Amino acid sequence: AQEINEDISEVILSEDDIKGIVSRLGAEISRDYAGKNPLIVAVLRGAFVFTADLLRAITVPCEVDFMAVSSYGDGVKSSGVVRILKDLSTKIEGRDIIIAEDILDSGLTLSYLVDMLRGRGPRSVKVCAFSLKDIPNHTPAIKPDYLGTHVPDEFIVGYGLDYAEHYRNLPYVGILKPEVYSR
Ligand code: PRP
Ligand code: MN
Ligand code: MG
Repeated sequence: AQEINEDISEVILSEDDIKGIVSRLGAEISRDYAGKNPLIVAVLRGAFVFTADLLRAITVPCEVDFMAVSSYGDGVKSSGVVRILKDLSTKIEGRDIIIAEDILDSGLTLSYLVDMLRGRGPRSVKVCAFSLKDIPNHTPAIKPDYLGTHVPDEFIVGYGLDYAEHYRNLPYVGILKPEVYSR
C-alpha cells in the first residue's frame, strides 16, 4: 500500500476494508438480479470509482450508464433541487435500475433522483450506496436498498469523495485534517 496522504488525519476504510464491502454488495446484487440485466447508474462525479469496482464484483449480466447532477441552493450543501448536468444515454423504460452512489449524506439529491427516474417508467429503481453518513439526530431523506458501510459525521475524502475536487484518487477513505479546509 502507498503512504498515507499528509492531509489525512485518520484512515477509516482501508483498501482491504473497501474490497470486502464492495464484494459483498456485488454478491447481494448478483443474487437479486439474476436474469434481469440491471442498468447501473453511476452518479458523477463521486460515484465513478465505486461504480467501477462494483461492476466488476457483479457476476450477472448488467449494463452501466452515467449521470451528472448538481444540487444548488445558496451555501446549503444539498437543497434537494437537482440540476442535471449530464443525462443518461440509455432509455430506462421497463428497465431495472440500480443507482450507485459513493455517499448518502442528507439523501436529498438521491431522493430527488429516484423520483425523477421513476417518472420515466422503469420497472424498478433501487439505490446502492457505498457509505451512509451517521449524523446525530438526523434521518436521511432516503434509505439505501444496498448499503456498504456507515461512516462517522466527519469531513471524509478518498475513493471518489472530494474536497474541492481533490483527493478522489486516494484508494482509501480518510478524515481530512480540519486545517486543510479552514485555510
Ligand atoms: C456528494 C456525494 C453525493 C452527495 C451526497 O456529491 O458524492 O453525491 O454529495 O450528499 P446528499 O446526500 O446530502 O445529497 P457532490 O455534490 O459533492 O458532487 P460530486 O459527486 O461531483 O463530488
Ligand atoms: Mn456526488
Ligand atoms: Mg463533492
